[in-house]
Amino acid sequence: MVSRYIYDEIDSTNLEAFRLAKAEKTQTDTESEEGAVKAPFLVWAKRQTDGRGRVGRKWQSDEGGLFFSLYLRPQVEVDKASMLTVVMALAVTKALKKYLEEYVVWEVERKCELAIKWPNDVIFNRKKVVGILTTLQMDEERTEGDSGYGVVIGVGVNTNQKTFEDELLDKATSLRSEIGVSILDEILLKYIEEYFMQAYTTFEKEQSLAFLKEEYETMLINLNKQVRVLEPAGEYRAVARGINDKGHLVVEKEDGWLCEVYAGEVSVRGLYGYAD
Ligand code: BTN
Repeated sequence: MVSRYIYDEIDSTNLEAFRLAKAEKTQTDTESEEGAVKAPFLVWAKRQTDGRGRVGRKWQSDEGGLFFSLYLRPQVEVDKASMLTVVMALAVTKALKKYLEEYVVWEVERKCELAIKWPNDVIFNRKKVVGILTTLQMDEERTEGDSGYGVVIGVGVNTNQKTFEDELLDKATSLRSEIGVSILDEILLKYIEEYFMQAYTTFEKEQSLAFLKEEYETMLINLNKQVRVLEPAGEYRAVARGINDKGHLVVEKEDGWLCEVYAGEVSVRGLYGYAD
C-alpha cells in the first residue's frame, strides 16, 4: 500500500503533497530527515479550506467528500505526464463500479449510470461526481537516470455531501444523494489505489495508453455522440470517436476530418448540457 498522510483539515491536498515532496528533495539516501517523504505517497483530507479545481476554479471541499492527492515520480518523459489523468479517471470509475456492485447492489439495479466525461470528470446519472487535477513540478536539477519531475494527481470524489453551492446544483451531485446510501471512503479509496497502481505500472512499462484505450472507451459518455468542443479560439461541433494512445480525444468534424483534442484549456460538452 502507498503510504498515507491523513488530515482532518488542510488547505489543499495537492499543495500539501508538493510540500511533503519538497521535504523529500532535501533528503539524501543515507541521512533521512524527519518529515521526509518518498514517492509514491498519498495525502487525504476530510476537508479542504482552499480546494483547487481545473482552470483556476475552486473545488468545494466541505466535510462529506473524499479529497486526496497522489504524489508520484513517474519514469516517463515529462510530455506524457498529463496522460496520468486518463489513467486516474479510469481507475476511479472502475473503483466506483466495483464499490457500487459490492456494497449497493439494489441501488445499482434501480438507477446507475456511471461514465467518464473526457478527460477528467466522472459522471453519475448525468451529473459530476469526480474531478481530477493533475499538476507537475520540475526539479531544479535533474539527476542522471531520473525523469526530473514529480506529479500530483488530485482527486475529489463527491461521496457523501448533502448540498452544493447554488451554481453547482444543476451539474454536480454526490453518490449518496443519488443512491440514498452512505459511501465508505476508506474502502473506495483502497479500490482506487489498487486500480490506479496496477495501471500505472503498465503505463510506465509501455509508455503509452494503448493498453487501456478499449476499456476507457466503453465508459466514455460521449462515444459516437455529437459534442461541442469549446476552445479558447471558438466552438465547433463534432462526433466523439474515442481516445488515442496519448489520451487525446479523437473527434470527427462535420466535414469528416478526424482531429485530436488536447485537454488543457479545452472543454467538451454534450449538445444538450454538461454531459450529454
Ligand atoms: C476539477 O476541477 O474538476 C478538478 C478538481 C480536483 C479537486 C481535487 S480535491 C483533492 C485535490 N486537492 C485539490 O485542491 N484539488 C484536488
